[in-house]
Amino acid sequence: MPRPHETGPIYLDCDTGIDDALTLGYLVAEGADLVGVGTVSGNVSAELGARNTLDVLALAGRADVSVAVGAHDPIGGTFQGGAPSVHGANGIGDVELPRSPAAPTGETAAAMLSRLARAHPGRLHVLAVGPLTNLALALEADPELPELVAGVTIMGGAALVPGNVTAVAEANIHNDVVAAARVLEAPWPVTVVGLDVTMEARFEQRHLDALLAGPPVAVALGRMLETYFRYYTPVLGRPACALHDPLAAAVALGAVEPTLAPVVPMEVDTTGGPGRGQTLVDLRSRYLGYPPLPGARHRIVLEVPQGFGDDLAAALLRLSD
Ligand code: RIB
Ligand code: CA
Repeated sequence: MPRPHETGPIYLDCDTGIDDALTLGYLVAEGADLVGVGTVSGNVSAELGARNTLDVLALAGRADVSVAVGAHDPIGGTFQGGAPSVHGANGIGDVELPRSPAAPTGETAAAMLSRLARAHPGRLHVLAVGPLTNLALALEADPELPELVAGVTIMGGAALVPGNVTAVAEANIHNDVVAAARVLEAPWPVTVVGLDVTMEARFEQRHLDALLAGPPVAVALGRMLETYFRYYTPVLGRPACALHDPLAAAVALGAVEPTLAPVVPMEVDTTGGPGRGQTLVDLRSRYLGYPPLPGARHRIVLEVPQGFGDDLAAALLRLSD
């Protein structure tokens, strides 16, 4: 797995969102080669997500990164209004950031992804931490995309643990099941960082305290996290929060090396029943004696080393105005 400086150009697709905002800060702090960001409706609308993304990037000193507004609605559906109870009404914990002078590019996120893949053939890494609508639209418009992209890392799904929207469905998959199915069916290498590991990667109270006592960028992220902690404290039973999107970014960068990540088949339940949005991960190969399974292409992260919260806090504290 490459180290951060070797990962190559990265296109980030996100629905900014508090943990998306942390991810933007983390990628900047790690010196990732962020060549473009597209937004999608999820935690907030794609339009508000773009505003948040521009403002967080400017706060972190990267107002130069291009941001494209992506899909407002999931494929075949309608955006349901986001998750204000988790991320606040504005998606970033109701923190009012200084407004970046930058504006979104006029292109769609799908067009940006296709353009960047062609500008960096065989090198671009796609990191998707929101619903997968833009990736699916890009695949539809540009069928050569899988040959052009070096790899895809997604935050989404749940292999062996409960969902967080329904008993079995995780939010990014559930918010556009059709897109998720198309992205997983496409012939490109996908690494899946799901709730199995992201619910166990945590910021604790001491991390929040350290950010709130840090430089202004860290303080702004810490104030957003106060809202996230309010949601997660009853869920986790103590003051803490899960680090979904930042952990996916760390895996994409090679900063976190999974200790268990089998390459196995995975598909999404697109039916209208109670299983809608479930990621069905075929782990029969853990037992001897099953014949080789067709379609074993997806690398499913099931275990990572402990301690990512410390690394993330240290990275965010390096950000300065
Ligand atoms: O299920 C976690 C995912 O949904 C993360 O991407 C988070 O930002 C939320 O939208
Ligand atoms: Ca997200």
